[in-house]
Amino acid sequence: MGHDEMSRPLAEARDYERRMESFVGEGERLCFHLTPRVGWMNDPNGFMFYQGMYHLFYQYNPYDTKWDTMHWGHAVSRDLLSWDYQPAALAPDQHYDDKGGCFSGSAAELPDGRQLLMYTGVGAGERKPDGTLADLQVQCLALGDGRDYVKYEGNPVIDASSLPEGCSSEHFRDPKLWQAADGSWRMVAASMDAQGLGQVVLYRSDDALSWEFVSVLAHNDGRFGRMWECPDLFALDGYDVLLLSPQDMLPEGHRFYSGNGTLCLMGHVDEQGVLAEESARVIDHGMDFYATQTTLAPDGRRVMVAWMQNWDCTTGVDPDHYAFGAMTVPRELSVRDGRLCQWPVRELDAWRRNPVRCEGVLLDGEPTALPGVSGRVVDLLVHVRPQDAERPYEEVIIWFAQNERFHCSLRYRPHHGTLKISRDHAGTRRAFVHHRKCDVQDATPELDLRIVLDKYSAEVFVNGGQQALTMIIPTDLTADGITFFARGGAVVDVEKYDLAEPTPGGAC
Ligand code: FRU
Repeated sequence: MGHDEMSRPLAEARDYERRMESFVGEGERLCFHLTPRVGWMNDPNGFMFYQGMYHLFYQYNPYDTKWDTMHWGHAVSRDLLSWDYQPAALAPDQHYDDKGGCFSGSAAELPDGRQLLMYTGVGAGERKPDGTLADLQVQCLALGDGRDYVKYEGNPVIDASSLPEGCSSEHFRDPKLWQAADGSWRMVAASMDAQGLGQVVLYRSDDALSWEFVSVLAHNDGRFGRMWECPDLFALDGYDVLLLSPQDMLPEGHRFYSGNGTLCLMGHVDEQGVLAEESARVIDHGMDFYATQTTLAPDGRRVMVAWMQNWDCTTGVDPDHYAFGAMTVPRELSVRDGRLCQWPVRELDAWRRNPVRCEGVLLDGEPTALPGVSGRVVDLLVHVRPQDAERPYEEVIIWFAQNERFHCSLRYRPHHGTLKISRDHAGTRRAFVHHRKCDVQDATPELDLRIVLDKYSAEVFVNGGQQALTMIIPTDLTADGITFFARGGAVVDVEKYDLAEPTPGGAC
């Protein structure tokens, strides 16, 4: 696309990000997690493998570290861990369709080789009783070559008039499309029903351009928050898996947490396009995880990323920073015992350096640091077992990102079967959520943890990925201590690697 064909808002965004990206200090970027080129990032969009590279787009406001009129940022990678920025892909520039923002969506390759982006255009809707204009959300397309995209002249391709009676035209967004085995196309999107509750709707198309409504795939029915966002439907290991992100959740024990959450519904989609649900669980129990999106890798792996943030925690913006937001490490999904499991992509194994192994370390009442086990860009594997099989320990604690003043922690209590992740003492200056507990599935006194740290983030995978907990850490990088502690006699086997890009020199 020549500069002349490009809209002014897109040309300006591209120019701005090129000029400003160097203001984002290296210290602000994570080593193997995608951060915005400059400014603000939220949801992952358009995640796919195209022309030999993984493409990951993102909700993007280049101009500030706050959410505002949404663009699509863009990056590409060969290993899902080391990303190169591409120029911004979409800007809000269509007067009728998306002047209010190019909201979340997805991507696919057309039979003719072009890349298709499907996104929610936000325009001005009806005048509300208070005189302000409601948003109008419609689904739009853009076509391109992996770098430059032209918005489709037939936009919008779907509007709320295709939805069942009473559904909101203000809350109809986040299309996720894919090609079915017979070459036809499917798409799921989030919608609000006549009761003001979330639902996921299914569409179909023969050519990916012209779409028809099929069904309401899944209903909230007042169970999981209010509006739902960012749905994704795929087949995995004999199940149909629907991932989504509910807003305004109410807490339920350690199963669901208040605020913006995530949800995995598993079951089977019938001929009418309705999901018969067999289970409903949180996807990640941490505080900073929202808006998942998956893609199918060329080798058949189903890989998920999410925004490593949450709307309820975004007051933690550092005023001196030029970038805010990050993606999680991409995670391979599988189903084990009817549950969704997640594990960092195997490409991360190639980043492991300097192995340290400490086997059979007895912990009994004294905080214990182990030689060579420290750092903030590390892959840490810990196996915990009781010293005396007859008398399990009371608790095991792992402190990390630790110095004399600050620490984060993971605490496991086998009697309660709970694992708690905490940044209560990590130096956060705002009072958002700082800890969470989850009930460990099939808890026993033996526990396997994988803790992946990348400077300001911690991603914890429990018992081979049966559960995960993700959080952002505000603490200065000099807080790099890792200490183990048990009350009541526990033994740990620890394996630790530094993580660095597998290139000569390899530093982050
Ligand atoms: C989810 C979300 C989406 C929307 C986007 C706007 O975080 O609210 O529903 O498309 O963010 O940036």
